[in-house]
Amino acid sequence: MSIENLSSQTKNTTTILLNCFINDNEIVLEVPATYRLVDILRKKLDLTGTKISCEVGRCGACSVLMNGNLVNSCLLMAYQIQGSSINTIEYMSKESMNPIQQAFLEEGALQCGYCTPGMVMALKSLLSTNPSPSLEEIEIALSGNLCRCTGYNGIIRAVSRYIENSQSS
Ligand code: FES
Ligand code: FES
Repeated sequence: MSIENLSSQTKNTTTILLNCFINDNEIVLEVPATYRLVDILRKKLDLTGTKISCEVGRCGACSVLMNGNLVNSCLLMAYQIQGSSINTIEYMSKESMNPIQQAFLEEGALQCGYCTPGMVMALKSLLSTNPSPSLEEIEIALSGNLCRCTGYNGIIRAVSRYIENSQSS
């Protein structure tokens, strides 16, 4: 095989035309097939609300929703999100501050705030299927999201505040 053919074959096998929906916008991008979802969000689309920390699926900082399910965007390659619908933290506050974020503010549930977008996405995933979770269910839902600052008590209080707020409105 000539070097030219080898080079074009490598190009063909390492890039894909990605077509998906991100925050309800149709996205068509040529990207390396191994480009991660978090790279697409942060570097290609400037959606920097999604954070990156451990890069190996342990901290939850990069959490987003894919077809309504919570996923770590550092673990998903571009080819794995083909045709899917992704929602990020930017979608949560598209029109006004999301009530979960509001509860975080009211309860002082953040310090540096680096983990907060991932926490909010994890809670969105929980609360959309279980609007009144028990403490144990909240702890299980947040078990994939690490916070180095808060000790988690404020975060748990924020969920309780959100539930109270949503039941009284
Ligand atoms: S950066 Fe993805 S789970 Fe930590
Ligand atoms: S508020 Fe700093 S890591 Fe959670």
